[in-house]
Amino acid sequence: MEKYHSELQTKKLNIPAMLAGKKVLVAVCGSIAAYKTAFFVRLLNKAGAEVKVIMTHSAKSFITPLTLSTLSKNPVLSTFEKDDSGEWNNHVDLGLWADLMIVAPASANTLSKMAHGACDNLVTAVYLSARCPVMVCPAMDLDMYQHPATRTNLQKLKDYGNIIIDAESGELASGLSGEGRMAEPEHIIEFVEEFFSRSQSLKGKKVLMTSGPTHEAIDPVRFIGNHSTGKMGTSIAMELVSRGAEIQFVSGPTGHYPKHPSVQVTKVTSADEMFEASKAYFADMDIAIFTAAVADYKPKTVANSKIKKQENDLDIILAPNPDIAKELGAVKMNQFTIGFALETDQEEDNALKKLEKKNLDMIVLNSLRNEGAGFAHDTNKVSIYDKHNNVSHFELKSKAEVAKDLVDLLERALNE
Ligand code: C5P
Repeated sequence: MEKYHSELQTKKLNIPAMLAGKKVLVAVCGSIAAYKTAFFVRLLNKAGAEVKVIMTHSAKSFITPLTLSTLSKNPVLSTFEKDDSGEWNNHVDLGLWADLMIVAPASANTLSKMAHGACDNLVTAVYLSARCPVMVCPAMDLDMYQHPATRTNLQKLKDYGNIIIDAESGELASGLSGEGRMAEPEHIIEFVEEFFSRSQSLKGKKVLMTSGPTHEAIDPVRFIGNHSTGKMGTSIAMELVSRGAEIQFVSGPTGHYPKHPSVQVTKVTSADEMFEASKAYFADMDIAIFTAAVADYKPKTVANSKIKKQENDLDIILAPNPDIAKELGAVKMNQFTIGFALETDQEEDNALKKLEKKNLDMIVLNSLRNEGAGFAHDTNKVSIYDKHNNVSHFELKSKAEVAKDLVDLLERALNE
């Protein structure tokens, strides 16, 4: 305790108000590390953030709401009901209020609930309804931290796009020593400041994205389609909005599209519709990212009524669809355009040809030969080529992490 006291004293004069105007919601779980959250809340406050605190029931055994409400300068909530007044603590409002939610300390129990969508207290309800980015600071005994169940839960949270601030090594409350201590408040605040400075990096940038499959009608009940799920496009959109971009997201028929106030989703079915919607937005955009798996062909004619089964072979004549990336690449002004190439053979050659043919600035290659890459998986393994012959090869990662790598490269290219 002494240590934090003196560190706070020394920081007293020189903490810049890096977080002025930022709204941070701190969720506290039952862990001995909860005492550090008091210091963290104070640091947030010193840095100019507006702070609200919510707690699980068991967190109150470790630190009092009075301490946290005094430090945060706001009432601390831990239940859905306001005392005996019959009034409701609206978890949706809390989630919408925050620019950032930080679960610190995050116990193994709450991590598990977050990973599985359980929602039996105010903290987990706010987590599920929050639209803002979420940081998670695990704190637990070293064996709990290493248990495959905890590792899997943390990976799930990463895949949801949450930012994990890894536990640190040292003496633990159990008397054992190892990894599991919640990150020190000074380290967490560095993550928060870095997050907010990054979150401005694409502010004002308008991005067109295409995502998902297209369905090309054969008759009123049948179509030609593909296995694209829209997961990669959704992850990229979430990464872009976390850095301040605004997105026109043109999505083919899939359940995966981003739900965020900075994303406007236009739902389409066919390649023709996707082209029309994309064309309408393109001129006004700074960036276009073509993640959609657009059908190359469509039935030349669409039957007006359901085609009846017959004894003989059925021929369907296919006509080419517009190549959206190529058409827009041909008319682009200053837009930075990124395409995807999903290849099964001669991957690099094909990707580079597409980069040129579609007048792209960058192309993301994923090979179907790599296990865990491509459609429907939650992971992807990509190589990213740009028009200046630079290439970056990446390991198999979650699609959220691939999105971060891609947007990092995009940002670097925009700043060159
Ligand atoms: O030529 P290929 O379909 O492999 O090119 C893939 C890239 O081109 C992707 O970025 C995809 O979204 C885009 N594309 C498109 N319109 C098409 C076909 C592909 O925008 N008709």
